[in-house]
Amino acid sequence: MADNTNTTSTSSTLSVVLIGCGRVAEKHLKAISKLKGLELKAVVDVNPDSAKRLLGSVKGFANVKTFTDYKAAIDEIKPSIVSVTVPSGLHFQIAKYAMEHGANLLLEKPMTMSVSEAREIFELSQKTGLKIAMGHIYRYLPIVGLVRQDIAEGKYGKVTHGTIYVRWGHGEDYYSSAAWRGTWKSDGGALMNQTIHAIDLLVWLMGSEPEEASAMIAQRIRNIEAEDLGMAVLRLENGALAQIEGTTATIPSKHTAEFSVFCENGQLSMGLDSGKPHLNIFTVKPNGKLKKLNGYYIRKQFKEGGMFSYKCALNPHLGIYNDLYESIKTGKNPIADAYSGFSSVDTLLGIYKSAKEGKPVALPLTDDFNSVDMTGFFK
Ligand SMILES: NC(=O)c1ccc[n+]([C@@H]2O[C@H](COP(=O)([O-])OP(=O)(O)OC[C@H]3O[C@@H](n4cnc5c(N)ncnc54)[C@H](O)[C@@H]3O)[C@@H](O)[C@H]2O)c1
Repeated sequence: MADNTNTTSTSSTLSVVLIGCGRVAEKHLKAISKLKGLELKAVVDVNPDSAKRLLGSVKGFANVKTFTDYKAAIDEIKPSIVSVTVPSGLHFQIAKYAMEHGANLLLEKPMTMSVSEAREIFELSQKTGLKIAMGHIYRYLPIVGLVRQDIAEGKYGKVTHGTIYVRWGHGEDYYSSAAWRGTWKSDGGALMNQTIHAIDLLVWLMGSEPEEASAMIAQRIRNIEAEDLGMAVLRLENGALAQIEGTTATIPSKHTAEFSVFCENGQLSMGLDSGKPHLNIFTVKPNGKLKKLNGYYIRKQFKEGGMFSYKCALNPHLGIYNDLYESIKTGKNPIADAYSGFSSVDTLLGIYKSAKEGKPVALPLTDDFNSVDMTGFFK
């Protein structure tokens, strides 16, 4: 895969250009600063002050070059990796340009705002061999990968169903901090922005693709164009059901998120409550008694990933960059790969389409659907 990439750095380091110097970009810079194999060559923002502010916020990047035009930065630096951290409605054009110029991507979620664009980016990665690691942070949390493997190997028996809730309250200050937030064109609502990576995680853990979505969305409190509350049920190809709740209409100072998977012989729940993680993994012993497996997984994760895997709990972007680096060097697929980007956008837009039409829709969507097709849904 390395042959496919532009290499402006030494053979072992990969050059990075980050485009979009806002809220999430700082997490990217902190991750890059901790990984020896990456060299940040430039950052880009239409607002030069944002670029300067970002570089000043993380140690060691004071002399990194800044640009206001992403094409100029990609053309001049020819980076191995382009990190796309602009508003979601701009992901497609920048991702496409970067790949057409030989760059691998760390692409923030959602991959794009339409099914056809997501398919195009996925197919471009297939055609070129360039890697895309999606900003699906939950796949990079400790333990989830181990649990997924055990579910896939049938250690817990048949998967019956799964649930997630993402109650990620955001007040008017958040929505008024940038004009793109909460709009159908550039962001979508609580499901598209705050819940898509949790949906991706749940489906990934349950080990099957969605084949049908039924959903309702609502505007309860926030003064935005899109939804601040959404609920959906997915039917997966293996027959299991997944229940989804995503909202920003809850109290902003109390962020909670949890996912649970239920199987014939076991069940697990993991989540965060105001920053505090919780974990409950059980199996049923042959004598019918419950056995808690938290300690087993915590030790196993340490044995396999050391402290690094636990550091990823504090900044999952560390895990994503490390994974992308390994993928480029070895040719393996990233954990949150290009397909996960396409599939989660397809599922999310299926959820929106179901809410719009008031009936279940089959997945994957056969016709294109774009977040802007929801314009006017809330009159
Ligand atoms: N994976 C995660 O955990 C996570 C968390 C937060 C945000 N995100 C995603 O990251 C993206 C950015 O979100 P944010 O909250 O950082 O947004 P933000 O508004 O804080 O930052 C976006 C930045 O992009 C800049 N920008 C806009 N147009 C540009 C262009 N054409 N070229 C260069 N820069 C441009 C803006 O000036 C701004 O500084 C969104 O897609 C969001 O969904 C992901």
